[in-house]
Amino acid sequence: MKNEIVVSGIRSTGNLHLGNYFGAMQNYVKMQGHYECYFFVADYHSLTTHPDAKELKNNVYKVLAENIACGLDPEKVTLYAQSDIPEIPELYLMLNMLAYKGELEKTASFKEKARAQPDNINAGLLTYPTLMSADILIHKGKYVPVGKDQEQHLEMARNFAQRFNYRYGETFPEPIAFNFGTSLVKIQSLDGQGKMSKSENENATIYLNDSDELILKKIKKAKTDQGPTQPNSPMPDYIENLFLLMKLVSHEDKYLKYLNDYNQCNIRYGDMKNDLGNDMVQFIKPIREKTIELKQDETYIKSVLKIGQEKARTNASKTIQEARKKWV
Ligand code: ADP
Ligand code: TRP
Repeated sequence: MKNEIVVSGIRSTGNLHLGNYFGAMQNYVKMQGHYECYFFVADYHSLTTHPDAKELKNNVYKVLAENIACGLDPEKVTLYAQSDIPEIPELYLMLNMLAYKGELEKTASFKEKARAQPDNINAGLLTYPTLMSADILIHKGKYVPVGKDQEQHLEMARNFAQRFNYRYGETFPEPIAFNFGTSLVKIQSLDGQGKMSKSENENATIYLNDSDELILKKIKKAKTDQGPTQPNSPMPDYIENLFLLMKLVSHEDKYLKYLNDYNQCNIRYGDMKNDLGNDMVQFIKPIREKTIELKQDETYIKSVLKIGQEKARTNASKTIQEARKKWV
């Protein structure tokens, strides 16, 4: 096993979907056993957009069960809740002194969320990237498996690490976004309107807990068009997304057949969606069933969180002591 450190988190704001799976979870599973991995539920981050704390604990259990159902082994990786590690908010405080209002305001995710919730543009939302940097730097994380939407946050984490090192002495590595393929993954919403996301259009998002019927229905309704009229035409992004999904869950022969049909201008999207729907059902079914089983065993989930908390705090407290010494 390499002793390089991997850190990543998922917010507990709803049910996990295909974007979370292919952007993040799939890489987590591939990395476990090869690196020292810290994976957590970012429950504090959830409060920036979902201020109602009532559902929070439940959602933490749910995300954790989904993480394990997707193939994460609590014996091989450290799984925990962000709010169980008080060293994270302490480092967050230190990093906030190194982050400038201007750069925080320019962050794409801040602008997007401020537009979406004009009555709640809180300081937590503005400093979202410093909290995320603290999550990573507290473990001296080097690789961060995330989807494409997180690239800018990672760039900021590198800046904050660099500034800390420059001012107070070498302490943190500069973390990078990681994906096993050639580039970071982005799964689009099935309606062709932006990225697939937990709280946007639910009918255009495939969740890991969707029933077979619902998966088939959503894929049937996915946006398509009349098909290309010129051979080898470039694909509109909503069609490219269907091909990407097919590449991810179907047999390669099927994918190549439809790609060829597209390039020859005789593609039948109805058939393609039928095939994709059936393959998606086969892909999601075992994850959904395993999650239901795990969620029923709350004692087990709590014990995983407890062990994770201990392991994560042991490592985090070393880092925070080192940072404190340099800082005060
Ligand atoms: P959401 O945006 O749905 O609330 P999170 O912000 O919790 O999801 O994201 C958790 C992980 O899933 C991150 O690594 C993020 O990059 C990845 N992710 C989320 N949506 C997508 C998507 N549509 N395509 C690829 N990766 C995604
Ligand atoms: N910001 C990430 C997202 O919305 C979630 C997250 C919080 C995260 N802290 C992190 C991801 C640390 C990687 C590392 O998807």
